[in-house]
Amino acid sequence: MAFASLLAFVAVAAIARAAPASVTCSDGTTVPDSVCCDFIPLAEDLQSTLFMNQCGEDAHEVIRLTFHDAISISQSLGPSAGGGADGSMLIFPTVEPNFPANNGIDDSVNNLIPFLSTHPTISAGDLVQFAGAVALTNCPGAPRLQFMAGRPNATAPAVIGLIPQPQDNVTSILDRFADAGNFSPFEVVSLLASHSVARADKVDLTLDAAPFDSTPFDFDTQIFLEVLLKGTGFPGTDDNVGEVESPLPFGDTSTGGNDTGEMRLQSDFALARDSRTACFWQGFVDQQDFMSQSFGAAMAKLAVLGQNTANLVDCSAVVPAATPSSGNPATFPATTSPDDLELTCTTETFPSLSVDPGAVETLIPHCPDGSEDCPTVQFSGPA
Ligand SMILES: *[C@@H]1O[C@H](CO)[C@@H](O)[C@H](O)[C@H]1NC(C)=O
Ligand SMILES: *[C@@H]1O[C@H](CO)[C@@H](O)[C@H](O)[C@H]1NC(C)=O
Ligand SMILES: *[C@@H]1O[C@H](CO)[C@@H](O)[C@H](O)[C@H]1NC(C)=O
Repeated sequence: MAFASLLAFVAVAAIARAAPASVTCSDGTTVPDSVCCDFIPLAEDLQSTLFMNQCGEDAHEVIRLTFHDAISISQSLGPSAGGGADGSMLIFPTVEPNFPANNGIDDSVNNLIPFLSTHPTISAGDLVQFAGAVALTNCPGAPRLQFMAGRPNATAPAVIGLIPQPQDNVTSILDRFADAGNFSPFEVVSLLASHSVARADKVDLTLDAAPFDSTPFDFDTQIFLEVLLKGTGFPGTDDNVGEVESPLPFGDTSTGGNDTGEMRLQSDFALARDSRTACFWQGFVDQQDFMSQSFGAAMAKLAVLGQNTANLVDCSAVVPAATPSSGNPATFPATTSPDDLELTCTTETFPSLSVDPGAVETLIPHCPDGSEDCPTVQFSGPA
């Protein structure tokens, strides 16, 4: 009798696990657990007070923060070196943000900290990764990321030296990613799709928001094409640490405008030409869907570094819908051509792409609306 009832109990338990109860949030979204519902008002708040539904500077900076928070973990140094995607940047805002490799990260840290008080059920690690997923939904062509919830608040900051820097060589970059989370060279290149929506303020201090490709508000493959082109000059001052010549250095800041020329990071230049990564790099040129999916897969791994995923709940359903890609093919920017390609991958054929017309370099828009007249590229928040 006791034996029979034990069996019955086991059977009920098995059914319960196979079909977890689902919950419907007040807006109608179905989620596996009610903890997910709290992220719906958070997404609305992030959009209306920080990102303004744009793939602008504040979105870019939070996307960068997801990486700088998560990568600070080391298998070789052990758990005391850092907790990975744990929100330690927000919990200890006077420690990691002051590391040289995090120069400029304080904007995103200071912008996100107030959301911890206004959304007190949400941990710092969840806030960082969720905000990054929401930011990406504003960038046409970016994937809708997986989002797992339930990271405990960080209990200690990470040690210095775990963030790859643009002046690092390819071996040390690949080694760092492997040590952080067994990322393959392909996954490293996949994560660098983020440089499609990135601009730098601190590599050249004379420039505000210098873009890494000609379309900094679109999550497209131009970054993979443009980094393969021969460099011709610097957008601002020459020879800054971690910077090499770009193919589109002209802006109009010297004549009173706000458009800055393209900046190229030394690390992107090197990864695009190194035998371990060049074919992966080239393989993303004009392959929007492949690039977007590969980035999404690598981000799913990055976002849970240091976390026991058995303790997390899959709240992907609360991430807003992605913005579709423009569908435009990659093109050689005006004044560049296939003759400028510096290809080292010998096993793949380079795609045939058209060249934008024009005898002069096209200026890269400074503002998300395509203009160069924005009072500030940033939300006027705490940052
Ligand atoms: C995490 O820490 C922040 C800041 O101290 C706090 O506001 C928040 O309630 C904490 N969240 C959790 C889930 O522990
Ligand atoms: C790469 O950088 C590391 C760290 O600075 C250095 O030890 C190593 O010699 C460099 N390797 C090459 C090939 O330059
Ligand atoms: C550059 O931005 C400033 C505000 O920072 C604005 O007043 C000015 O009109 C912009 N310049 C151009 C050429 O749009």
